[in-house]
Amino acid sequence: MLPSRTAPAKSRWAWFARRLVAVLALVAAGLFGWAWWASVLPGEYSALDMGTPDYGGGPGASALDGAAHGGHAGLSGGAANAAPAASELTSVVDLIADPDRPADVHVELVARAERIAVGDDSFDGFTLNGQTPGPEIRATQGQLVEVVLENEDVAEGVTLHWHGVDVPNAMDGVAGVTQDAVPPGDKFTYRFVADQAGTYWYHSHQASHPQVVGGLFGALVIEPATATDASAAPVTADTVAAIHTYPSGGRTINGASGDARFTTEPGEVVRVRLVNTDSTPTSVWVSGAEFRVVAVDGTDLNEPAAISARSVELTAGGRVDLALAVPASGAARVQVPGASLVVGADGAEAPADAPPREAVDLLAYGEPTDPGIDASDPDRRFTYDIGRLPGFLDGRPGYWWTINGGIVPAVPMYMVDEGDVVVMRIENHSGEVHPMHLHGHHLLVLSRDGVASSGSPWWVDSLDVKHGEVYEVAFVADNPGVWMDHCHNLPHASEGLMTHLAYSGVTTPFRMGRDSGNDPE
Ligand code: C2O
Ligand code: CU
Repeated sequence: MLPSRTAPAKSRWAWFARRLVAVLALVAAGLFGWAWWASVLPGEYSALDMGTPDYGGGPGASALDGAAHGGHAGLSGGAANAAPAASELTSVVDLIADPDRPADVHVELVARAERIAVGDDSFDGFTLNGQTPGPEIRATQGQLVEVVLENEDVAEGVTLHWHGVDVPNAMDGVAGVTQDAVPPGDKFTYRFVADQAGTYWYHSHQASHPQVVGGLFGALVIEPATATDASAAPVTADTVAAIHTYPSGGRTINGASGDARFTTEPGEVVRVRLVNTDSTPTSVWVSGAEFRVVAVDGTDLNEPAAISARSVELTAGGRVDLALAVPASGAARVQVPGASLVVGADGAEAPADAPPREAVDLLAYGEPTDPGIDASDPDRRFTYDIGRLPGFLDGRPGYWWTINGGIVPAVPMYMVDEGDVVVMRIENHSGEVHPMHLHGHHLLVLSRDGVASSGSPWWVDSLDVKHGEVYEVAFVADNPGVWMDHCHNLPHASEGLMTHLAYSGVTTPFRMGRDSGNDPE
């Protein structure tokens, strides 16, 4: 048989195909290696070198033109620093409360690593003054609050962030942005004027995921200087209900697993200040009494209507204050999945109801009134678009969160000037819900999925943005500094769902990164 004339051609093709595959494999490996290498962050870097400055259509973009862009892995090489000369820069460390004003409320908190028992379980966690949650701090609006944090033996260091309180930037407690983590044996003093009445909380912002879950948090209540709006229920008693799921032992309220209790008499109207210190949203409902949602994230709602057989969604990091009258039967039960707070007479029983099917929609709850901000012609418009992509984060391959299409640090750095009115559009295309939290500011919800807010002004510092949703929020840039803007599902933040809002002309001497000792997430 004659040799086929196609055989040599075939083998030439096979040879060529093999070479092509080898070359493509090399190229792919090269790209992979480059992507890996390019994603590796320096051992230390400034928050201000993260991302690409986004001026939201406002002034500032031209200041960037001469800025060095020689940065590594999306580190922009200090663009945010580049505009004014060094002498005109304000350091975050100088953004403090009046140093000469004496404290009205003085608290000392000692952080310690220890074994914690919850229910029938125990785990290696953290306490403040030997307890978790840490002591409840109460102040009256206008008072100067001073908290000395001492780290006894938490090896990774600790800080305290005052979640929802628009403190001066140096007091914000973000390791690597507004301070260095406090090492064992050291102290840091926080001072701020408690300007805004409402329900807040504090937690570590160093290694926040393990430290908050493990116990380094507590409630902060700022009582109004004068009695609040008469349209709200006339409250006669007041309690915090801090919801938390420790690494073991099930869900707790104020540290108690199962039923926590607040003892008071039938007829009393109780303000229950719920704080969701977990990383996922929860729902809250009340059995045995109707209730009103009187405040969200520290801000009172206008003319909230009475509710029964509906639940309230509570964002991770968020707060809702409910007002309810203790029924003549003895007690009502404030429920979340896995735990309750029984509010009523000592020993009185309260029914436990299944979760209601319907939730209150805060977009249309309460009555409209002037929110005190005109967002019709904002100075800047930003988009915070959350997605998800395979890629590398600091050399680790994974399926990472993206902001406006980039993986940290290739994310926007939102740049503002003091006094700007800012509108931000928050979109989520990532497949999961994200409780978004901006530090140092309160956001007014303008719309959700194009539907304008029609109820009470709805101010938040923590906002659940579900997959597929688009929120428009507005705020006034009235608190200079460098502020985190991140997901409060704390593992998500450590997976890159975080960036910053920065005021032009403000700089920070602090550094993040593996060699810095600071790890804000
Ligand atoms: Cu409650 Cu950035 O934190
Ligand atoms: Cu998230």
